[in-house]
Amino acid sequence: MSDMPAAPHGAMNRRGPFRPGDRVQLTDQKRRISTITLTPGGEFHTHKGVLFHDDLVGLPEGSIVENTNEVRYQALRPLLKDFVLSMPRGATVVYPKDAAQIIQMGDIYPGARVVEAGVGSGALSMSLLRAVGDAGYLHSFERREEFAEIARGNVDTVFGGPHPAWQISIGDFQEKVLETEEPGSVDRVVLDMLSPWECVDAVSTVLAPGGVWVNYVATVTQMSRTVEAIRATGLYTEPESFETMVRGWHVEGLAVRPDHRMVAHTAFLITCRRLADGAVGIPGAKRVKEHTYSAADLETWTRSENPEAWHHEALGERGVSARKLRRAAKDAKSMTQRGSLPQGEAGLDEEEPSGE
Ligand SMILES: C[S@@+](CC[C@H](N)C(=O)[O-])C[C@H]1O[C@@H](n2cnc3c(N)ncnc32)[C@H](O)[C@@H]1O
Repeated sequence: MSDMPAAPHGAMNRRGPFRPGDRVQLTDQKRRISTITLTPGGEFHTHKGVLFHDDLVGLPEGSIVENTNEVRYQALRPLLKDFVLSMPRGATVVYPKDAAQIIQMGDIYPGARVVEAGVGSGALSMSLLRAVGDAGYLHSFERREEFAEIARGNVDTVFGGPHPAWQISIGDFQEKVLETEEPGSVDRVVLDMLSPWECVDAVSTVLAPGGVWVNYVATVTQMSRTVEAIRATGLYTEPESFETMVRGWHVEGLAVRPDHRMVAHTAFLITCRRLADGAVGIPGAKRVKEHTYSAADLETWTRSENPEAWHHEALGERGVSARKLRRAAKDAKSMTQRGSLPQGEAGLDEEEPSGE
């Protein structure tokens, strides 16, 4: 048994009967969800009675428990996707459906050396850390300390403490990454920010030949400008741009149909791969011929000469108040240390995704 490899960081917290300190997701008969952290002697109060935390300790996951008024709850540890949609947030998070695409299309593998920006609330960082594993490397860059603080709290909660493969640097990605990563040393780059085209030179310096670059942007204008900037370098394979839509289905007896509501838009993904220095890229077979549009046409669309045009409001995004950021950071920190957070209390589950 002594030859057994150590369990990956955080894995043991997710297995076995419920223990004090576990986060538990309770679902009632009306499918309302609350998340609690089990504490010895702790109580979960609603207007319909009290559930004693000690009644859960020692039970297997998936047990049904009753409160003092015989209200029944289904008890499970939250999955990462559940946590991401209910955790304290500042910026908009990468949605679980898109995180899954980023891991697959970005080919994030155990042991990979990955850099990421911005960190925001840390949602994508968690998926990237799971994919690179303890022996991997994730260096996340975030220009705003308040966001980094929220992300640290959330990541520590999910992994039960600091993850061995993770570090955050505060500052602009395009400057900091050049100070910290050797040229050609990074396997994968993932950017989720307002203006990824500002990072083209930095990414081109640190990304290894064959390395994958993934961009996550909310609007078509950002997508267009990013693709044109990547293409203009001649250093990458032809960028691929796509989005995913996930439509849930209602399946009950003969009433089998798509759900009435869905999240229709989150963001677009752009992927490409770094060519070897000196290699000449092969343009896509269906590439639009240069003469079908002028530089002036492109400028009208991308507004590259006017950086002021690219701000949050112009891209239809809501700002985040300093008060809300302080509260999210406080919630994220206290959740790591002990507390529980009712689902949706600090998260924005009901709001539409809107990018940065
Ligand atoms: C939409 S949020 C990222 C959300 C995050 N991926 C998540 O899943 O929780 C965008 C973040 O990028 C940061 N940011 C924007 N430009 C940046 C840059 N050039 N360098 C570092 N961070 C940047 C912003 O401060 C913001 O926190």
